[in-house]
Amino acid sequence: MEDKLQYLRDLAQNWKPARDLNSLRDTMVFATGNPHTQLMLIGEAPGYYEEVQREPFVGRAGEKLNQILKAMGLSRDMVYISNIVKFRPALPNQRTNNRAPTPEEIEACLPIIMHEIQVIQPKMIIALGGTAAVGLLGEQGSVSSMRGRYHPSYLLRSDNPREKRKVWEDMLAVMERMGMPVSEKQRGYFLPRE
Ligand code: URA
Repeated sequence: MEDKLQYLRDLAQNWKPARDLNSLRDTMVFATGNPHTQLMLIGEAPGYYEEVQREPFVGRAGEKLNQILKAMGLSRDMVYISNIVKFRPALPNQRTNNRAPTPEEIEACLPIIMHEIQVIQPKMIIALGGTAAVGLLGEQGSVSSMRGRYHPSYLLRSDNPREKRKVWEDMLAVMERMGMPVSEKQRGYFLPRE
């Protein structure tokens, strides 16, 4: 498996369909975590911090993801974390600001992540955010219309407990499908207090 991933990593580095677009930056950010896992998490593309550290989800979204994994009884080294697009989408005069990948950038990079999925053979995939979910499923739709049906998650942009509960219910569904133990305490996270 490690050989296959190394092969994919080398392939991604010089992936012509992505390079030819000339809209992505040069530094590749591949994946992190444990390839021998049953749970794969896939985001859209690296941002500023990910590019600096060459690791997916190490910025603010990454901190949130770490919290979610911890609440599930998991850690980053127990799952495999990757992005559809392996290069940070470029902007003119770019500093720390990021942009979401375009449909063309996603399409160009899709073969790589599809091969990663084939190598890892996870039991479940969590799409982190609408862009990743639409990119992977090739289906248009809002996160709210896809939630539950496909078990995508979306990262938290608000401190609203009701939003957190929606994400958490998707995570509970993932845990149940994976056969992971779920405690009463975990079941109650983010429920409104009576
Ligand atoms: N958002 C993503 O989709 N991927 C990252 O690696 C970080 C933030």
